[in-house]
This record gives sequence, structure tokens and C-alpha cells, in this order.
Amino acid sequence: MIDHQTVERILDAAQIVDVVSEFVNLRKAGVNYKGLCPFHDDKDPSLVVSPAKGLYKCFSCGHGGNAVRFVMEHEQLSYPEALRWLARKYHIEIREKELTSEEKQLQDERESMFVVNEWACKYFQDILQNDVDGRAIGMTYFRSRGFRDDIIKKFQLGYSPSDKYALSKEAKRKGFKDKYLIATGLCYQKEDGTLHDRFYGRAIFPIHTVSGKVVAFGGRVLDTATKGVDRKYVNSPESDIYNKSRELYGLFQAKQAIIREEQCFLVEGYTDVISMHQSGIENVVSSSGTSLTTGQIRLLHRFTNNITLLYDGDAAGIKASLRGTNMLLEEGMNIKILLLPDGEDPDSFARKHTAKEFQNYIKSNQVDFIHFKTELLLDEIGNDPLKKASLIRDVVESIAVIPDEIIRSVYIKESAKQLNTEERVLLNEINKIRKQNKEKSQTAVQDITEGNGNSIPPLNTIEEGDKVSSFSTEQPNPFYRTETLIMQEIIRHGEHHIAETDEVDENGNPKPISVLEYILMDLQQDNLMFHTQLYNEIAEDLLEHLHQSENFSTQKYLLAHPDGRFNKLAAELSTDRYLISKIYEKAEKQKQEENISERIPHLLIDLKLAVIEKQLKDTKNKLLDPSLKEKPEQLKVILKEIQNLSAAKKTIAQRAGDRSVLASKRNYNSTR
Ligand code: CTP
Ligand code: MN
Repeated sequence: MIDHQTVERILDAAQIVDVVSEFVNLRKAGVNYKGLCPFHDDKDPSLVVSPAKGLYKCFSCGHGGNAVRFVMEHEQLSYPEALRWLARKYHIEIREKELTSEEKQLQDERESMFVVNEWACKYFQDILQNDVDGRAIGMTYFRSRGFRDDIIKKFQLGYSPSDKYALSKEAKRKGFKDKYLIATGLCYQKEDGTLHDRFYGRAIFPIHTVSGKVVAFGGRVLDTATKGVDRKYVNSPESDIYNKSRELYGLFQAKQAIIREEQCFLVEGYTDVISMHQSGIENVVSSSGTSLTTGQIRLLHRFTNNITLLYDGDAAGIKASLRGTNMLLEEGMNIKILLLPDGEDPDSFARKHTAKEFQNYIKSNQVDFIHFKTELLLDEIGNDPLKKASLIRDVVESIAVIPDEIIRSVYIKESAKQLNTEERVLLNEINKIRKQNKEKSQTAVQDITEGNGNSIPPLNTIEEGDKVSSFSTEQPNPFYRTETLIMQEIIRHGEHHIAETDEVDENGNPKPISVLEYILMDLQQDNLMFHTQLYNEIAEDLLEHLHQSENFSTQKYLLAHPDGRFNKLAAELSTDRYLISKIYEKAEKQKQEENISERIPHLLIDLKLAVIEKQLKDTKNKLLDPSLKEKPEQLKVILKEIQNLSAAKKTIAQRAGDRSVLASKRNYNSTR
């Protein structure tokens, strides 16, 4: 457990722009920052970060919150894990509360796996740098590949001793549990129960997340041992912390350069990435020998729109890999292709040329992907007119998936020329394909949204004119909108003093009532609770903590709350207005200036009126029951109920007419 003061220090230190920038390329936009949202498939920047408020918010998918929330969501961490992450970033020493043995057991599994991996990564490096065999075998191997010391350190390369048990023995000596050695894949268990190192005798390439945590390793056999070994590389298996299709090798080391150069190179292997770094080209990542996944593309897209695929000059290989590229176009990436001379891969090419030569080669040889593809196919079909039709179809399919209309039209022009076809023909085809694709994706969206009926819609989807009384049967909670507005007041101003009680403190000063207490007391008076259970939970939790510290802020407290539902709601209701647009901002300011001591009582009255109206309606519906004729007693009860409700409604409506409800209430309270 992290103690309370440390948590406060972490929260104070965490700068939202700083934290989000670790993962997203942000640009300044007025007083805020903007970038591509990492939480959904974002093509136009819809993530807004407000340094002043310490919040982020995506206006497309609705994700939002403070720095802790961002780290939790992005790195898929628990609340304490995210705090530790921030503490590391800001060099804040964590004072842990003494753990009970039970709590120790409960300590997060994933965190333990990261700890084991981090240790193993250091262990492999230490063997490579300091162990006699490590130097003689491992280091000699890297040297033979021409890797410099600084590059070996930068990529944290290592060596796993040739003894099959070396790592597991050392790990046990250090007190690491078998369980985590197995879960991370560093070791596997033999039938007799003994642990066996997975990477023994191999050169080690650690695989980092975008934030630099070690999630996996790649182990390469050394050249001398390559004969007779069927797998050149052995990689960590997928695990709770390693999802192969969501990581890109080298991104951690490349991300700054990618942003700076506004471009990224994609290569096949570990050694290609490393060699290119060594020749000064640092904006390079690898998909580790497999074709790119959508997850990897989106990860990369947060840093740049521009990607250049590096291929060696062998044509058969190229055609095969072109198939996967439509996915990149679909994600709105600009793609270029760079062909290396026949038989060269980026690693070998980098070793044969100076950095300058490599960079010049790139500049003069990278070509636009669609142009490249068309050229390649044209070469192939010769003069066969039938083949030409299918070629056009192929090219057109690529253009059709590009989300940006302007870019599409540029391609249509160019390709028409290249294919010696009329633009109109291409455009027609493209529109047909786009229509088909749209229909496909619409049914997909329907599939997702259906059956999702009980989730709460975000506040900004509820229209201003949405009358609470005119609810339809589909709406699960007819009071949702008003209650959400009340909740918003609680989140934003919960601790503010809104009124006084007739009690006095020891100095004879009247005791103040906070917005939170005022609202809860007011509802209680009429035996009401929120109809949204979450709101009751939040209110209860807040009430418990309100007086625990002097500068308690409901907003700050909720935004950092470990319960995801709490901090999510707080983020939504804290941010929905002030960031959207200038006009909205202005309107909001005016509203803020309006006195909360007027706004809140009116909201409460709105809610009560809505509740009574609903009760009235339900009770009146009972009168429609034909069997009532034979039950005069029951009829009487119902009529009486209607009378009471109507009277109550009248009283409340009268209060609503009174502009200064709170003032009258205060007077009422202070009649001593
Ligand atoms: N790869 C793998 N398992 C294999 C072979 C390849 O995981 N058995 C992945 C590795 O990530 C490797 C990439 O595919 O880096 C590309 O493979 P290859 O070009 O064969 O390896 P290089 O990285 O070029 O390694 P080297 O130059 O040492 O041969
Ligand atoms: Mn290679």
C-alpha cells in the first residue's frame, strides 16, 4: 500500500501534458493540446488535453480523466500500479505501508511479472558485459555483427549463459517465485518439475512497451550454433503482459525521433532496427517478422501519419507483403515504399554504407505506395487488356479505403494518368466500393451497439430540450438527465459552502453546509435517493471523506478515485463543457457566474417535480383497471393518493416559482 501523503505528492507532480506526451504526439491548440486519441481508432485528433485543469478528454470516444486515469487506461494498469508508474517517472520515492501477508499475496500478478522481467533484463546484460563466457561468446557475437557499445546498451542487449539452469538458479537465489518465471516465459517447467531456461545460450533482445517496460525477449542462436538448430529466434510466449500484436520492436527507442522526423520506417527484424539506429536513422520500428496488425498501426499512428516500408529487392516477397498495406491506408496513413538493392536487408545495407549514404539512398528511392503498386502491376500484365481490368480493380480498392477525400482525389488523378484511364471511371468504381464498405461497417456498428441498452449515455448526448417528464419506455431512468446535472454540481462544487445551519460552533459562528450535504439533506427530506445507483454510491463515499481533510475537493478526490466508475464519471462531468468550443466556453462561464445557490435548489425541484409527475401518472394509470368498480375501498385509496400527490406537486411548483428558494430556506432555518 502506498501511503496517503505519497499519493498526494504523486498527484501533485503528475503533469497531464507531460504524461500524455509519453504516448501521444500532442500539438498546442490555444490553451489546450490536441492529439490522436489512443483509445479508439482516431484519424482526426480528437483528444484534448487541458494543462490548466489537469485533464484529458476524447471528444469522439468519451474517454477522459486525470493523469492517473490516463496511465491506468493506456498501460492497462490498476490504480496502485499507475501511481507507481508515475512515481518512477517523477522520481518520487514511494513509502509503502507495511503489508500484511495477505496483502503481499494479493500484490498484483502483472506487477510481479514486470519485476521479474526487469530483473532478467539486467541479468542478461550483466552476463554479457561482465561474465567471462558472456564476454567471450555473447559480446564477440555482437561485435562480429558490428554493433557498437552505445547501441548494445541502448537496446539493453544481453546474453543468456549456455547452462540451461543458470537464470532459474539465480532467480531463485534472489527470491523470485517459479510462478512468475513461468508466467513470463523466461523458464518452462519440465515434467519432473524442474525449471529450464528458455533462452539459454542465446543472444538476448529485450522487447519494450512504448513506455519502456520489458514485456518479452527475443533470443537468437549464435552463428556458431546455428547449424542443426531449427529456430533462429526463440521469443517469449504471449502472456498477461505480452500481447505480440500490440507491440512494435524499437518503438520505445524510436518514438522521439518519429515525432521529430514526422516519419517512421518499418523493417522486418530486430537487427534491422538496431543497425539503422547505429547509422543514425532512429525513427525505425519492426513488427518482428510478422505482418502488421491493426493494433500496431494504431500504436504507430499516435506518433506519425507517415510510414515507409523497407523491402529487400526480391520481387516475389514484395508482392506478398503488398497485400497487407491496404490496412495502413485504411487507418489514414501515408505510405511510402523503399526498395533496397537485391539481396540486401536494412541491416546489411546499413553496414555497407555510411549513415549519409543510407539517408541519401532513402531520399532518392522512396516512392509513394499506390504509385509503386500500380507500376509493379503494370509491369506484370504487359498488354493483356483483361488483366488490365483486374489491375484497375486492385488499385482502385486501395484508393477506396483512404479515409481522406482530398487525398483520394489526388490519387485518382495520378492513377488515371498512370493507367491511361479516365478519372471518371476510377471515381465510379471507388464510389461503388466505398458504398459497399460503408454498408458492411454499419452492420458491424449495429452489432456492437445492440444489447448495450443499460449503459449510461454520456451527458453531452442528452439534448438540452430533453424534457424529463416526456420519457419513453426505452429510457431506463427517466430522471437520468436531471440527476446527472445534480451530480455534476456535486462533482464540481461539492465542497463549496452553500448555506448555513442554525447550529453554531464554539465561537458562535453558524456552521456552514456544503453543496454535497445540502443536496443530500434536501433529497432525504422528501425520502428521495438517486435513481442511478452509481450516484448514490458516489454521494455516500464523498460524504464519508468530505470532512477528513481541510482542502478536500470533491472533483480532485473523484478524479483520482480507485473505482474506475467513479473517476470516469468525474472526468466526463468535469470536462464535457469547457473544452468543446469557444461558444460553449462562454456560455459555461456565464452559467458559472450564476449563483450556485440558485441553480442547485432549482435542479432539486426539477427532480422532485419529475418524480411526482411520474408517480401521478402511474397512479392515474391504475384507475384504468376495470375491476376497480367492484373494489370501492381500493378506488378510494387511489383517489386519495392522487389528491396527495397533486397537492405535493402544487407546493413544489410554487417553490419553483420562487426565485430565491434557498434564501427563503435559510430564513426558515434561522428563525431562532
Ligand atoms: N523471427 C522470429 N522467429 C524466427 C525467425 C524470425 O521471431 N524463427 C522474427 C524476428 O523478430 C526477426 C524477424 O522475424 O528479427 C526477421 O527475421 P530475419 O530477417 O530472419 O532475422 P533478422 O532479424 O534479420 O536476424 P539476423 O540478421 O540475425 O539473421
Ligand atoms: Mn537480417
